[in-house]
Amino acid sequence: MVCDCKQNRKVLVISIFFACLVLIGLIFFRFGAGTQSAVSEEEKTLVLSHVLFRHGNRTPEPHELYPKDPYINETYYPYGYGQLTKAGKQKEFNIGRALRDRYKHFLGDYFLPQIVEALSTDYYRTKMSLELVLASLFLPNKEQMFETGLYWQPVPYDYLPSNHDPVLRGFMCPTYRKLYNNVSNSKELEGELRNHEVILDFVSKNTGLSVTRYADIYDLYFGLLIEEDWGLALPSWTKEVWPEPMNTLAVQEYYVMTKTREMRQMAVGYFLEKVRSMFNFVLPSSPRSFQLFHQIESCLAGFLTLCSSCSSL
Ligand SMILES: *[C@@H]1O[C@H](CO)[C@@H](O)[C@H](O)[C@H]1NC(C)=O
Ligand SMILES: *[C@@H]1O[C@H](CO)[C@@H](O)[C@H](O)[C@H]1NC(C)=O
Repeated sequence: MVCDCKQNRKVLVISIFFACLVLIGLIFFRFGAGTQSAVSEEEKTLVLSHVLFRHGNRTPEPHELYPKDPYINETYYPYGYGQLTKAGKQKEFNIGRALRDRYKHFLGDYFLPQIVEALSTDYYRTKMSLELVLASLFLPNKEQMFETGLYWQPVPYDYLPSNHDPVLRGFMCPTYRKLYNNVSNSKELEGELRNHEVILDFVSKNTGLSVTRYADIYDLYFGLLIEEDWGLALPSWTKEVWPEPMNTLAVQEYYVMTKTREMRQMAVGYFLEKVRSMFNFVLPSSPRSFQLFHQIESCLAGFLTLCSSCSSL
């Protein structure tokens, strides 16, 4: 997702940013990140740009697999669990290329460290994704090339350890976890889930899991999605529930994650504050600034969900 800031269009741009974020939803994760085409006259007055995106295609995490999974022993060689695949690498590299295409004047011909701030979450897949975006965003020109034939130059990025990253990982905050557990175990949610009892029982029976929460469906959703992406044929029972209604039920988890105002503030408030605080200082004479944030889907989707209820932040 791309958000550009210009002095005279701050408010409009922010609201467009939110509006387009809201539109994306889970479909974004099925088809990957889209990019918009270049608007080069406008680029001349651009001083600040925020780009928030997800890592590319990956292999599953063990908790996304299920006891009766016919592919439970798949090793995902040579990647292992939870890692970026070749398709994922290509996707991220292409994102960097598209951003370069869109912002070529803004970014200039050389990589200058003071223009770019790149932040990742503390996952190999997001760090690698960010490296790939930066690789194609800053292909070295002749003067910066240090090894003949190597079209790559090092570009720094930062990350904070997962448990100490309020900006990109507010969901890890212990107080947030308490609030989440409270909502997750609430009578209200229990009642809501009762409406889906038949589906949850069907999925439980076929997976060997005890599927009682949206969070269970959410994990399973990614497991199945990734297996399919990896080229595995899903077992026939999935035909009854895949991709719908599992997709719709998995999306509900994002609303659980951002249920209360307090939860939303903790989960994405620091990120939003970081973005907002930069708008405050934007002047036509400001130095250029390009901000890149690499996320995993739960944070990004939490943010999208939050934006769909922005007025209640
Ligand atoms: C996975 O490996 C274990 C141990 O070798 C074996 O018992 C099991 O049948 C395998 N499962 C599948 C689905 O291939
Ligand atoms: C826990 O959730 C209930 C609603 O299910 C709410 O009334 C209560 O205030 C919550 N407690 C905390 C500590 O957030």
